[in-house]
Parts: sequence; C-alpha cells; structure tokens
Amino acid sequence: MKVLVATEKPFAAEAVNGIKEVIDAAGHTLVLLEKGTKEDLIKAVADVEGLIVRSDIVDKEVLDAAKQLKVVVRAGAGYDNIDLAEATAKGVCVMNTPGQNSNAVAELVFGMAIMMIRNSYNGKAGTELKEKSLGIHAYGQVGRNVARIAKGFDMTVTALDPFVKDEAMIAEGVTPMHSVEELYSNNQFVSLHIPATPQTKQSVNKELICKLPKNGVLINTARKEVIDEAGLVEALEARPDIRYVADVKPDNADELIAKFGDRVFFTPKKMGAQTAEANIKAGIAAAEQVVAHLRDGWNRFQVNK
Ligand code: 3PG
Repeated sequence: MKVLVATEKPFAAEAVNGIKEVIDAAGHTLVLLEKGTKEDLIKAVADVEGLIVRSDIVDKEVLDAAKQLKVVVRAGAGYDNIDLAEATAKGVCVMNTPGQNSNAVAELVFGMAIMMIRNSYNGKAGTELKEKSLGIHAYGQVGRNVARIAKGFDMTVTALDPFVKDEAMIAEGVTPMHSVEELYSNNQFVSLHIPATPQTKQSVNKELICKLPKNGVLINTARKEVIDEAGLVEALEARPDIRYVADVKPDNADELIAKFGDRVFFTPKKMGAQTAEANIKAGIAAAEQVVAHLRDGWNRFQVNK
C-alpha cells in the first residue's frame, strides 16, 4: 500500500529517513511531497491508503480526491487543519500523535519570553523570569512541559484547565486557577495552549488581555484564531506596558508591527515543533500509527470517533 507524507513545512531529514524505515519495514511504499501546493496534494492523494501531514490542510476537496484513503495521521497535536466530519463521512480514521512535539513547543515559549523581556537583545537593560508569575492557559501536554521548565526558572506557576483535576496540578507544583479572569489578573506572563475550537476562537479579547498585571507578556504558541485580533490592537493601545509574542503570525501582523514596534514579535512561520527531535518523534509515531491502522485497524489516538 502507499503512504503519502505531505508536508508544506518539511520534516528534518533524519525524521524522513526514520519514517521511511517504518513504512518500508511494513512492506508499504513511501511517497514524499514536500513544499507542495494544494493542487500537488490533490494529485498525490489519489492512490494512497495512508496520509501523514503536519498543519497541512486536509479539507473536503483533498478527501474527495483520496479515493483509497483509510487513515490520516497529523504528526503533531492540533488537528484543526483536518475536516473531521468529512473524514468520518468517508470512513477515514484521523489520528494525532499526542505529546510527541510538546517539549519543542514548550522550550520555544521561554525563548520567546526571554527575547521579549531582554528587548530583542538590543543592548538595553531588560528583566528576568526568576520569581515572576506564569499562567498556563490549558494544561495539556505542552502546558505541562511549560510548567516543568518554568520551575527551573524559579517562576511561580498557575494553570487553568477545566479538563484537569486540581489535585493533578497541585501534585506537579502548579496552582490551579478556576476562571480566565483569575488566570490573566494574577500572572505577569500568560502562555496560551488552548486548541482552536468554535468555543475558543477569538476568546482572548481586549478585556482579558487588559487584565494582565503591569508589564504583562502574552505568549501564543497555540493558534492565531484564539486571539481577537482587533481586540489585541485595542489592548496594546490601552496598555503601553503589555507585550505580545507569537509563534503563529496574526492576520494583522503588519498593523501590529507598525503600531507597536518591538512590543510585538512573530515568527515568519510556525516554529514551535520545528526541531529535529520533535520531527523524529512525531514523524516516526505517525508512521507507526499509519502502519498499525493499515495492519489491523489500530486507532488509539483517533480524534474523529
Ligand atoms: C501542533 O499542533 O502539533 C503544533 O502546532 C505544530 O504544528 P506543525 O507540525 O505544523 O509545526
């Protein structure tokens, strides 16, 4: 059977080699499409049984073209790029690879936070993370890694997650918060890890951002859609002490940079999971999951049940 790896943002070479080994060992054929267009993807999916993607869009058009497709694995956490309803209607299993790239994203949170509080390394005196407060907005795999690293910086760590029991956070040295207002009011640094869902889209708005204490820094390595972008502009206008740093470039990035200069920073392309280690772990896990599904219907991480 054929397994297509379609990545607009290619995996590290070692990850591709590892994926190939897994696919070959199972007797399947790897087809690699890197930096392809949507048209390339539509052509390439025509005769494959398995598909591995990252943030690449797998919508109805792609699924319609994929007549043999049995399984799609998103090598990573968020699967908002995949039309789950359409996949379900076509009997295609969709899985993600939870946890495999979370350390990489968590490390970038601190890289971005330090860059902001050291004034983008421009030589002016900055500030430190030590003994500052950090609020983790959603305590999943990335959030937990953020908490672990934050303790090394001697930060006080709180988190909000309605799906995680207070005791589980407390056991990990994290103080549970019970509302977004509480989380944002009590933490100089807030790190976003909520998925983009109908409930969370544009939920981080002016009112919430303005709750940050003095010299607040909002760090977004999650999804741009969770931010109310007009509200963000208003918040940064109302509060000249607040900074916003994101690994997910907002649609109004040019406006934000023009208005707020180095109080904002955006990576040109999502870089959180873009490490050799994360590529190898997520890529190989994805290949193993595809092989297991094609072998006997294995579906432990299915997200469209
Ligand atoms: C994820 O959801 O796993 C991260 O956002 C990483 O996405 P990427 O694979 O496109 O870098």
